[in-house]
Amino acid sequence: MSEVIGFRAHVAGDDGEAAFGDGEASYGRVVEDGVDTRHGAILYLDAISVSFDGFKALNALTLDIGVGELRCIIGPNGAGKTTMMDVITGKTRPDAGTVFFGQTIDLTKLSEPQIARAGIGRKFQRPTVFENHSVHENLELAMKTDKRVVPTLRATLFARLPGEQRDAIDAMLELIRLQDSAARPAGLLSHGQKQWLEIGMLLIQEPRLLLLDEPVAGMTDAETERTAELLDELRGRHSMMVVEHDMDFVAAIAGSGKVTVLHEGSVLAEGRMADVQADERVIEVYLGR
Ligand SMILES: Nc1ncnc2c1ncn2[C@@H]1O[C@H](COP(=O)(O)OP(=O)(O)OP(=O)(O)O)[C@@H](O)[C@H]1O
Ligand SMILES: [Mg+2]
Repeated sequence: MSEVIGFRAHVAGDDGEAAFGDGEASYGRVVEDGVDTRHGAILYLDAISVSFDGFKALNALTLDIGVGELRCIIGPNGAGKTTMMDVITGKTRPDAGTVFFGQTIDLTKLSEPQIARAGIGRKFQRPTVFENHSVHENLELAMKTDKRVVPTLRATLFARLPGEQRDAIDAMLELIRLQDSAARPAGLLSHGQKQWLEIGMLLIQEPRLLLLDEPVAGMTDAETERTAELLDELRGRHSMMVVEHDMDFVAAIAGSGKVTVLHEGSVLAEGRMADVQADERVIEVYLGR
């Protein structure tokens, strides 16, 4: 039976049978890998509030992300963007409101590791890779990290790698443009390359939803452009939420998709990039600075 708790409704266990009671087997089977996205959305935040010492970092924040959507989130410093990601990943508990992953998984009831296991990957602003290991080994480690156990680094590295996994790593190296650096220690990569490697390490675990907080901060212009190309390639294959201040980058990856503007812990505006950029309220609090 699934160890993920806090479901709003019953879902299938690992054996494919309904985890609870009679009459729910058919319900369980249609819920692919436990995330029920039949209504088209992968994430629902409803009226989320978070206070720090009386200051409302999030104020009745309501937001949905569609399956396969690449949603850009913009907004001034302190708007609550990172706090929102902290709430989604279980690092911060909301004072009020609900967060659902698909229709049924109540993220406010799960621990951070349970949320990661459920399929939410998060990229923090600073790259965190194993500097002394090669690029290839970093991807191997990410792939082989069974999130249910804590393996030693050594045991993980010296286990044999089947051909299928090798192919997946090669494909990932190509996607993140690091084929030529596969054997290099990750510590020798540029800042941008480390960021791509970490994105690859998250992707290889096949998250249902990927959260990226300021992925191009500190990148060169060329690295930023390549990151936009990378995210464009992932469009539709993964659901993604990308927080960024670099408006050229946001414009490049948003395409005709939705951009959400956060301000003082709530959604100030939401729509196509061009409409959001022309919105007087958005210009006043953010873009016009
Ligand atoms: N752990 C915390 N304790 C106290 N205050 C916090 C904490 N985390 C965030 N805050 C405050 O909550 C507000 C929202 O912060 P948050 O980091 O979410 O903003 P942000 O939109 O990510 O900003 P930036 O664009 O600068 O990254 C800020 O005023 C911040 O100082
Ligand atoms: Mg932030």
